Amino acid sequence: MNKFQFIKEYCDRYGWQYGSENKALFFYSLTKMFRPRTVIELGAGYGVVTFMIGEALRLNGEGTIYSYDNGSQSRAIMNDISPEETIEDCSGAYFSYLNKKIEDFELGNYVKFINAEIPPYPSQFDEVDIVFSDFVSSPAIILQVLATYLPLMVKGGSIFFDSCASHFSCYSTIEFITERLNSGKIPLILLEGCDEELREKFALVVKNSRFTLKHINDVAKKTQNTFSWLQIEPADLVPHPRTNIMY
Ligand SMILES: C[S@@+](CC[C@H](N)C(=O)[O-])C[C@H]1O[C@@H](n2cnc3c(N)ncnc32)[C@H](O)[C@@H]1O
Repeated sequence: MNKFQFIKEYCDRYGWQYGSENKALFFYSLTKMFRPRTVIELGAGYGVVTFMIGEALRLNGEGTIYSYDNGSQSRAIMNDISPEETIEDCSGAYFSYLNKKIEDFELGNYVKFINAEIPPYPSQFDEVDIVFSDFVSSPAIILQVLATYLPLMVKGGSIFFDSCASHFSCYSTIEFITERLNSGKIPLILLEGCDEELREKFALVVKNSRFTLKHINDVAKKTQNTFSWLQIEPADLVPHPRTNIMY
């Protein structure tokens, strides 16, 4: 069995718990094609999406996925993984388990799990290629994620919100904000707490970008299963990145 099949088998085994098995393949392809350097996942779960992105990064030969989790669902996850064991410290066991999987899948150079409560949002990165927000779904979280990461996104970068199109309040929020951003206006609420330097960065991103929003519904799943994809491309006459375009 090759590495991809090994990881895919893991995704098929545990992916259904959070409806991630098809999504993981989507992210695998996107990672292979877009070749991100920095990917941030907020909410690791079983690591289904994390490991698929990690495998694509390994094949690309560069990039890191930083996957953050506070272990709040670690009891359910560990009960599922080791039903026969009585585990005292579920959070500790959960992170040990995830790190052991990194070793099993030989993804040590590409995948980092971080035990952290969100917020605060990890923002120590100079540039971010992909953000996948999959810990809590609410309009407030959408605003916080956009406020943190929009100024840090690379050209052509993407921010994903899980379950966004399954909640009308989240769907309306992201639709409304995308329209505002495309009209060159930054809702003031996104700038609250930004210092002068960050405000300038924000203004530049909005001025020079085109924001494309797509809601993806995994209709193969029986229950409602969606994610929303906000892509931030340079406002240009040709697609980004410029490759062999014919005129
Ligand atoms: C839906 S699961 C993530 C699934 C994963 N992204 C995937 O697609 O396979 C949500 C995860 O978020 C974590 N979580 C929930 N609230 C959190 C918070 N405030 N800070 C950090 N992690 C949190 C939970 O422990 C859980 O593992």
